[in-house]
Amino acid sequence: MTTFESQTVVVTGAASGIGRAMVGVFAKLSANVVAMDIAPLDALAADLPDHSVALHQVDIGDERAVKSAFAQLERIDVLCANAGRLGPMRGPLDYSAQEFADVLSTNVVGTYACVRAAVPAMVERGSGAVVCTASVAGLRAGAGPVPYSASKAAVINLVQTLAFQLSGTGVRINGICPGLVETGMTRGLFEAARAAGKEHKVGQLNPLRRPGKVEEIANVAAFLASEAASYVQGQVVAVDGGLSASHPFAPGKHW
Ligand SMILES: NC(=O)c1ccc[n+]([C@@H]2O[C@H](COP(=O)([O-])OP(=O)(O)OC[C@H]3O[C@@H](n4cnc5c(N)ncnc54)[C@H](O)[C@@H]3O)[C@@H](O)[C@H]2O)c1
Repeated sequence: MTTFESQTVVVTGAASGIGRAMVGVFAKLSANVVAMDIAPLDALAADLPDHSVALHQVDIGDERAVKSAFAQLERIDVLCANAGRLGPMRGPLDYSAQEFADVLSTNVVGTYACVRAAVPAMVERGSGAVVCTASVAGLRAGAGPVPYSASKAAVINLVQTLAFQLSGTGVRINGICPGLVETGMTRGLFEAARAAGKEHKVGQLNPLRRPGKVEEIANVAAFLASEAASYVQGQVVAVDGGLSASHPFAPGKHW
């Protein structure tokens, strides 16, 4: 059974959705969890009264704030660089350079800032694990708006390039690509489907024929961060009900 006893696990984007589930999963596995988010985290702590969870309100797009939040931690064994945002939903050619850059600033530069704040001490120690949250939208088209999808493709490459360039350091860096999951980011879609009586149609394009649950994503992050994945390096695992395994198909005409 995997345990993170005596280990410090930092989760960004911890106030909501997948990050919040990660905090719960790591706390149950006995980790000392450090929860970070741009949003207030008090509700999270109230939900986990029996666990060791420290809270830091920090914008990962602000490098100085990230540095100072991480500098308060004595030791980091695991970083789940999970915070991200969708950005505006517009037509493919309708983003200003600034709007595009704002999404990259959180999803890519912010992820990198967290890695940069956490990993040097891991390198010095010769051990540590990083799990970055990318998205199926970063694997190929069809799962998100242009800036978001490009930002998640960059996160996938960040994982691969860092894993390669951190060769021989003992630090493992991997990623996850969630499919569709109901969280703060996707709530509008789920609520609109519910309001139209079409909730049963959400998530039907993947072979498991349903949306994911936040814990199903968090469990894979915990596996990648754990000793059980000690020989997994530079990989980005799709946790998407099989969505990314198939070519496009006409629903109802599979074979
Ligand atoms: N929900 C999905 O279907 C889905 C699919 C693929 C990937 N993802 C990815 O999963 C991750 C978690 O998103 P979620 O779905 O749980 O959404 P969410 O909106 O519920 O949670 C995201 C959290 O990140 C925080 N955050 C945003 N910008 C931040 C910043 N600058 N600094 C610190 N915290 C910040 C938000 O406050 C929020 O609490 C994101 O990286 C997202 O891109 C989600």
